[in-house]
Amino acid sequence: MVLLNSIALATAGLLAGSVNAVASQSFTWKNVRIGGGGGFVPGIVFNPSVKGLAYARTDIGGAYRLNSADDSWTPLTDWANNTSWHDWGIDALATDPIDTNRLYLAVGMYINDWDPNMGSILRSTDQGATWAETVLPFKIGGNMPGRGIGERLAIDPNKNSILYFGARNGEGLWKSTDYGVTWANVASFKWPGTYVQNAADPLGQYPVGIAWITFDSTTASKGTATPRIFVGVVDAGQSVFKSEDGGATWAWVSGEPQLGFLPHKGVLSPAEKTLYISYSNGAGPYDGTNGTMHKYNISTGVWTDISPTSLASTSYGYGGVAVDLQKPGTIMVAALNSWWPEGQIFRSNDSGATWSPIWYFLSLVWWMILFADYLRAWNGYPDRFLYYGYDISAAPWLQDDTSTVDFLNKVGWMMEALVIDPFDSNHWLYGTGATIYGGHDLLNWDTVHNVTLKSLATGIEETAALALLSPPGGPPLLSAVGDIGGFYHTSLDVAPSQAFHTPTYGTTRDLDYAGNKPANIVRSGDDTGIIPVAVSSNFGVAWNDYYGADTYTVSGKVAISADADTILLMSSTNGSLISKNVATFSQIPSLPSGAAIASDKRNNTVFYGGSGGSFYVSSNGGVAFTKTQALGSSTVVNQIRVHPTVAGDVWATTDTGLFHSLDYGKTFTQISGGVTSGWGFALGAASKITAYPAIYGFFTVSGTTALFKSEDEGVNWAMISDASHGFGSASANCVGADMATYGRVFVGTNGRGIFYGSPSGALPPSTATASSVSSTKAATSTSRPVTTSSVSSTATSKPATTTSKPATTTLSTSTLHSSTSSRTSSSASAGGTSTPYGQCGGSGYTGPTSCPTGWTCTVSSTFYSQCVQ
Ligand SMILES: *[C@@H]1O[C@H](CO)[C@@H](O)[C@H](O)[C@H]1NC(C)=O
Ligand SMILES: *[C@@H]1O[C@H](CO)[C@@H](O)[C@H](O)[C@H]1NC(C)=O
Ligand SMILES: *[C@@H]1O[C@H](CO)[C@@H](O)[C@H](O)[C@H]1NC(C)=O
Ligand SMILES: *[C@@H]1O[C@H](CO)[C@@H](O)[C@H](O)[C@H]1NC(C)=O
Ligand SMILES: *[C@@H]1O[C@H](CO)[C@@H](O)[C@H](O)[C@H]1NC(C)=O
Ligand SMILES: *[C@@H]1O[C@H](CO)[C@@H](O)[C@H](O)[C@H]1NC(C)=O
Ligand SMILES: *[C@@H]1O[C@H](CO)[C@@H](O)[C@H](O)[C@H]1NC(C)=O
Ligand SMILES: *[C@@H]1O[C@H](CO)[C@@H](O)[C@H](O)[C@H]1NC(C)=O
Repeated sequence: MVLLNSIALATAGLLAGSVNAVASQSFTWKNVRIGGGGGFVPGIVFNPSVKGLAYARTDIGGAYRLNSADDSWTPLTDWANNTSWHDWGIDALATDPIDTNRLYLAVGMYINDWDPNMGSILRSTDQGATWAETVLPFKIGGNMPGRGIGERLAIDPNKNSILYFGARNGEGLWKSTDYGVTWANVASFKWPGTYVQNAADPLGQYPVGIAWITFDSTTASKGTATPRIFVGVVDAGQSVFKSEDGGATWAWVSGEPQLGFLPHKGVLSPAEKTLYISYSNGAGPYDGTNGTMHKYNISTGVWTDISPTSLASTSYGYGGVAVDLQKPGTIMVAALNSWWPEGQIFRSNDSGATWSPIWYFLSLVWWMILFADYLRAWNGYPDRFLYYGYDISAAPWLQDDTSTVDFLNKVGWMMEALVIDPFDSNHWLYGTGATIYGGHDLLNWDTVHNVTLKSLATGIEETAALALLSPPGGPPLLSAVGDIGGFYHTSLDVAPSQAFHTPTYGTTRDLDYAGNKPANIVRSGDDTGIIPVAVSSNFGVAWNDYYGADTYTVSGKVAISADADTILLMSSTNGSLISKNVATFSQIPSLPSGAAIASDKRNNTVFYGGSGGSFYVSSNGGVAFTKTQALGSSTVVNQIRVHPTVAGDVWATTDTGLFHSLDYGKTFTQISGGVTSGWGFALGAASKITAYPAIYGFFTVSGTTALFKSEDEGVNWAMISDASHGFGSASANCVGADMATYGRVFVGTNGRGIFYGSPSGALPPSTATASSVSSTKAATSTSRPVTTSSVSSTATSKPATTTSKPATTTLSTSTLHSSTSSRTSSSASAGGTSTPYGQCGGSGYTGPTSCPTGWTCTVSSTFYSQCVQ
């Protein structure tokens, strides 16, 4: 699974220079199974020619291929490392109907400066096992608004050397005639799309661009370029265009209704010669309050509104559209976001003339007929006929079993990807904000009108992990995860049954354990109106709110003292705060806001901080900190880690390297060994009982930025990430290690879940034979790390790539815009008054936020606040 660079790069001979001088050790890597995806799946595409071949794309965690035999998914982009992390943002995907091993991805994360790189088309001729790359002259936004629209990358079904790609940000339509190797702008296509989701938003300010490209496969035979091509554009005016001459000339498809909506999908039913188009009044994935489903009859040129819900009464737009190629006229459409009471999907077997929903409100009349206790008043609780059973055995945590409210939304939200297997009318899949659902009994919809919704995302792990902890004597892992909370992992290979609850945080920010009483765990996180700190005394099985914090305090990094009586919180809005014995948190004026923090694991009164390149220590339980030492020429302290059993033994990573203190942070030595930058790291079990713990982390060593390990306190380093496991952005990752199991290291990525590794290859020989890194070390190898002087001599091969942005910026920005849901962002309000039982708030919601007199706006989930009495 090697990424081959583009032909241009290879011929320029640049690949040769990338051979690393660093030593390495091979590790076996597997995902810690959370299961169920855990984030937004904006696209799923079946190959129309090979039974069971399908792919899914994610917005921050790469692409996957379906294994239809067991419904599992195989990741295809795990090679992405710090130089290619943006390849995990996949804006479009195309699978070749002729040469079915060919697969293409349009990659790139952001158009703004969070991502410095131009977008690329990745090309594979072996179903995603290996890749070649063509860099485009513009950026691609795989994690930007409208990412579920599509697909904006398409292969001519009759002549597969021809591809089209629809760009964002006014860059227009692009065409390749050589299997995606070279691309040229289609100058005759003059509608780049003008819709902008939110001009005030760093990501929403850019035009979403082209929506989708759909060839009318019926207009040519194999080997000849398809003349008729439809292109949808993200524009509230004219938005569907067509060419009848293979893309030479283009015209608006006359008769298109112009209701101010955006076309999300344009799906061809070839046997019916009909294009089915879903429209929504927002680009998604969170929005949409109005829209239509239309069909365009290609033979007659007639447009027909076939919306399942009338324009006057809809509260959602439409997203995913599926056609059953085995049963022309059988089509499905998903409400993009029906927040309350839950997502809605419709199915028609008469080309949209009539529809049946996957659930239906139980009217008062039915209620009275069916139930003797009809006198129980209608209370707004959505009693429904559910025409589905529900099977989340693969990821039970998808429903919060402590909350009846969350159980309401089983069908899902952000439903842009909806497909029926072209070879099996019973097999369907759809993507939501949290998982892939689907099933194998879809035809039951037409007979008994009841299907089983299953979470079918096994193998997809697309979470952003923010902290990982293996408390001594406790479970193998506790995880802090963006958007879906975090987990107590009883096993690394079995999906946890529930996220951390009571309190339930949408995003868990951090975890720490008390060194002398390791069953005592602190957890910090966010959700609306919730206390942001919780404590457990049984390794994270059960939790209590920590009442030293109020609900107006925003969470952040957290540390708990060795004896578990004091908590240090680096609130993202209140700055540094300390609380002992559940007293109200108080400010720590002597510790800068935003500092990296840690507790000593043995000495209860000692806390550490790092900020602006300097180290801070408190010896009075965090009440006051003293600045002890500048860490060389560092300007940023990225992380502090403390020896689990030795008081005063503390490490820090910075923008200039790795520093070690044995005297409670009073003095530090800088690790030589070629280490010129460090980010997330952890201490784990040593190979020998007498030895110092192994150090694992993301470092730049001799110019190579990767995951490294040292077993001798930083003298020798071995790279343990590899060509197939790059872990994406180095600065965005967190690392954990187990003090009980030698070699056990955890990597929490920003979009590809959590990995665990174990050594499978020999440790590289240290001083004598190895590369420049270790040989330089021979001179300086002592029982303790040496001081700064030797650093300059080792950092020769490549200058350290000092980042212009502090590493933490990357983490917070990309995490905040991570996949599942904007749980952390609250919405802009449009003002106005909602209706009884109407929505009045929620993530991404932009409607009225006040309630009629006598009704109160009450949070029922992150996504939904409702007017209740
Ligand atoms: C990162 O991936 C690129 C390919 O995208 C590869 O050339 C490079 O060697 C990798 N770097 C490391 C440190 O593995
Ligand atoms: C890691 O990748 C980022 C983004 O591409 C880049 O800015 C940074 O310089 C890289 N860091 C290193 C140490 O190579
Ligand atoms: C397209 O129009 C023709 C002619 O009216 C009609 O027979 C056919 O059923 C239409 N197709 C669809 C899918 O509505
Ligand atoms: C949806 O939009 C249509 C067309 O602009 C409008 O007539 C209708 O009132 C809207 N419906 C809702 C529920 O806002
Ligand atoms: C559909 O099947 C599920 C699971 O068996 C059941 O709970 C549900 O009530 C059924 N729906 C209807 C309308 O019968
Ligand atoms: C078409 O759908 C309707 C409504 O779900 C159902 O009653 C009917 O049996 C279906 N017809 C076929 C041929 O599947
Ligand atoms: C944090 O700031 C908010 C807003 O100013 C305030 O309400 C809250 O009490 C503060 N929390 C602490 C612990 O000081
Ligand atoms: C804890 O650290 C403080 C400050 O360095 C020191 O004064 C004290 O003696 C230490 N306590 C123990 C038990 O080592």
